[in-house]
Amino acid sequence: MDTHAISLTINGEKYTSEVEPRVLLSDFLRHELGLTGTHVGCEHGVCGACTVLLDGQPVRSCLMLAVQADESEITTVEGLTGDGEDLHPLQQAFWESHGLQCGFCTPGFLMTLIPFLKDNPDPSEMEIREAISGNLCRCTGYQNIVEAARLAAERMRE
Ligand code: FES
Ligand code: FES
Repeated sequence: MDTHAISLTINGEKYTSEVEPRVLLSDFLRHELGLTGTHVGCEHGVCGACTVLLDGQPVRSCLMLAVQADESEITTVEGLTGDGEDLHPLQQAFWESHGLQCGFCTPGFLMTLIPFLKDNPDPSEMEIREAISGNLCRCTGYQNIVEAARLAAERMRE
């Protein structure tokens, strides 16, 4: 099987790897690099659980091939904590607001909300709901997730 050399930066660290052209970015992150915080739900672009940042923009890693991410900068949920100790304010707000139940969808929500809150630091409830409308959560009815996003926005503005 042919492989291609790719080189990319993930959570601030440089990686070079040989990958088969058919390997999905989500599988590359999870299976090759062990970054299992990126969850895979539907595997066809519907649920948003696999969302990561590609050069700062949210993408569904199950809809991309790893070779397409060559030369790019990826952030996964593991990259949010920086030093690995303190939670990101958005993670802290999810924790405090109980914005999760089973938690399977949570990494995708976080990675969708990070760029949203950067672009829109003082969102209305409707704007938050619209921003996360492409992420499916089967447990919480979204109420606490919306509350977590609102709390994080408030803290990140301070
Ligand atoms: S696993 Fe990628 S959108 Fe559902
Ligand atoms: S918390 Fe269970 S799917 Fe979202």
